[in-house]
Amino acid sequence: MKNIEYLAALRAEVHAWKREGLTVGFVPTMGNLHAGHLSLVNLAQQQCDRVVVSLFVNPLQFGPNEDFDRYPRTLTSDLEKLTALQVDTVYLPSVAEMYPNGLQQTVVAVPGGITSVLEGASRPGHFDGVSTVVCKLFNMVQPDVAVFGQKDYQQCLVIQQMVQDLALPIEMVIAPISRDRDGLALSSRNQYLSPEQRAVAPKLYVALQDIALAIESGNQAFETLTQVATQRLLEEGFDSVDYLNVCDAKTLQPADSSCQTVVILGVARLGQTRLLDNEVVVR
Ligand code: PAJ
Repeated sequence: MKNIEYLAALRAEVHAWKREGLTVGFVPTMGNLHAGHLSLVNLAQQQCDRVVVSLFVNPLQFGPNEDFDRYPRTLTSDLEKLTALQVDTVYLPSVAEMYPNGLQQTVVAVPGGITSVLEGASRPGHFDGVSTVVCKLFNMVQPDVAVFGQKDYQQCLVIQQMVQDLALPIEMVIAPISRDRDGLALSSRNQYLSPEQRAVAPKLYVALQDIALAIESGNQAFETLTQVATQRLLEEGFDSVDYLNVCDAKTLQPADSSCQTVVILGVARLGQTRLLDNEVVVR
């Protein structure tokens, strides 16, 4: 496995592959890798001849009061995991390599409803930071296929729209959510949970599944379903529920009875830890 820090070296590597007619898969990450990230790498390897994984904690997508400085950086164990999977190249740009003109650089901003609701409402500017860095990474790596996780459902929609709007020649693959045995979606943040909080955490997924089952069996009272579930999560030990919504799976606007595919999106907090999960339901 090659570790590459500079864009020029990355370009040389990828151009050499392309000259040989090899296809390139790409998995962007912020490191602190767990089995969810590694499932994305597996998918990329199944679809492409060569795979690049990027490890870059992107300052542009963190708000001033968010945890950029405290974001866990675990380079040695990340590289061990990627070596074990026989990844071809890891791209580890510095902030200066990614943003040579500083953070006041050209921004790629996906407009409209999908970026202003849910995570976009809780984290102003977050999706501009995500779409800007992903666009840059796409231009740097020039992959044929890029793999993202359904865990960040809204992020997938934002990137999909960017790819369409800018006619980027990249196929997007969305990987299912990897979960622990008790259903908790894998996340770098789970390591912050105390044993008591860890015991409560899977109940977020239970709530999503209960709502999904109700919708599948014809219940259309989406607001009542989410209100009841929110109340139960608070009784079960969550400290707060940022949102629990049934949305149109394409637009992320509140679902109505005409929506064929809906997504139930939830964010709930245990102490400082913000847990995020979702479930798609075809009606
Ligand atoms: P990060 O949080 O490191 O996630 C990298 C990728 O792993 C994302 O596509 C995310 O959806 C996926 N992922 C995380 N947990 C998962 C799980 N339990 N199951 C399946 N996939 C999972 O998302 C980012 O980084 C950044 O915003 C990034 C796209 C790299 C841009 O900076």
